[in-house]
Amino acid sequence: MITITMISTLLSSFILSTALLSPGASSRVFSGQSFTSMYYDCCKPACAWPTYGSFVSGLKTCDANDQPILDDTAGGYCGGGPASSCINQTPWAVNDSFSFGYASIFIRGADSTEWCCSCYELEFLDSEIKGKKMIVQGINVNFNEDQINWFSLAVPGQADWQSQCQRRFGGTFGEFFGKNATGFTNLTQCDTIPEELQAACRWRYTWYQDVKGPNATFKRVECPAEIVQVSGCLRTDDKTFNSSSSSAIPAVSILSPTSPFATIIAVAAVLLGFPHLLDLF
Ligand SMILES: *[C@@H]1O[C@H](CO)[C@@H](O)[C@H](O)[C@H]1NC(C)=O
Ligand SMILES: *[C@@H]1O[C@H](CO)[C@@H](O)[C@H](O)[C@H]1NC(C)=O
Ligand SMILES: *[C@@H]1O[C@H](CO)[C@@H](O)[C@H](O)[C@H]1NC(C)=O
Ligand SMILES: *[C@@H]1O[C@H](CO)[C@@H](O)[C@H](O)[C@H]1NC(C)=O
Ligand SMILES: *[C@@H]1O[C@H](CO)[C@@H](O)[C@H](O)[C@H]1NC(C)=O
Repeated sequence: MITITMISTLLSSFILSTALLSPGASSRVFSGQSFTSMYYDCCKPACAWPTYGSFVSGLKTCDANDQPILDDTAGGYCGGGPASSCINQTPWAVNDSFSFGYASIFIRGADSTEWCCSCYELEFLDSEIKGKKMIVQGINVNFNEDQINWFSLAVPGQADWQSQCQRRFGGTFGEFFGKNATGFTNLTQCDTIPEELQAACRWRYTWYQDVKGPNATFKRVECPAEIVQVSGCLRTDDKTFNSSSSSAIPAVSILSPTSPFATIIAVAAVLLGFPHLLDLF
């Protein structure tokens, strides 16, 4: 019973996603509601590849010593190449209710070329940080997830899935990115990672209050200069997209996102279909 409903939910999401994709889609604008989580993997962010969008200037990547890599086709660190994520593409608080940051994104019905280096304003809907806002730039693609809207914030101290951060920065599991790379559990542990990562690690326990997977609304905004200054990435449509033509994308499926039944089914689908996502929180 659950399985059949689950499959039909996944199927309807897939059909919707397919139906929404159309040629010349680059000017489409998205908003909606999303799940959120955190990640940190030291790989080359997908949006740094030139094929992931139309950019005035591309997303910066860095070598293992955090020196900029100028070639956007340079191989990714997790595939044995030199290009890793630059250390400063991590969150910082502007004041108690507003932060900037970077995210790995999936938006249902959209193509990664539409969110790469787009900026979104997030407003958290629940938990201790309800009402707080962030503006994040999409730097990566949630390849793990393709059924629900998902913003995963890049925050050092989160699970180091492929042990590539351990390779890049040294250290051991348990001392570096949490016991068995499952991520940190308290603020004190931020003292144990390289100094240049510590401020962003502490952001999680201070501004973000270490909440687990808050939900948020998202809407596309023009990228603030502060964000572009750090990431280097600017889309060709960043000044020209029409925010009032925004398509609202429900978080999970074509069923009403406010229906508790739809939510339960969608969450069950996610938990059963993508168990590894649980560990991202
Ligand atoms: C926090 O900063 C944001 C962005 O600059 C601003 O819009 C907001 O008014 C500020 N809030 C407070 C409480 O200072
Ligand atoms: C960490 O991994 C080791 C080796 O696989 C295992 O023996 C240990 O129980 C794990 N610790 C935790 C806290 O999961
Ligand atoms: C933080 O977590 C580490 C690892 O689990 C533990 O050894 C340490 O006592 C904790 N510190 C505090 C202040 O809770
Ligand atoms: C986010 O929404 C899901 C589905 O409605 C819910 O299960 C979860 O508890 C929410 N997260 C928080 C932190 O409240
Ligand atoms: C933006 O989109 C809205 C809604 O589709 C439309 O009414 C408006 O004319 C558009 N503005 C521009 C400048 O294209």
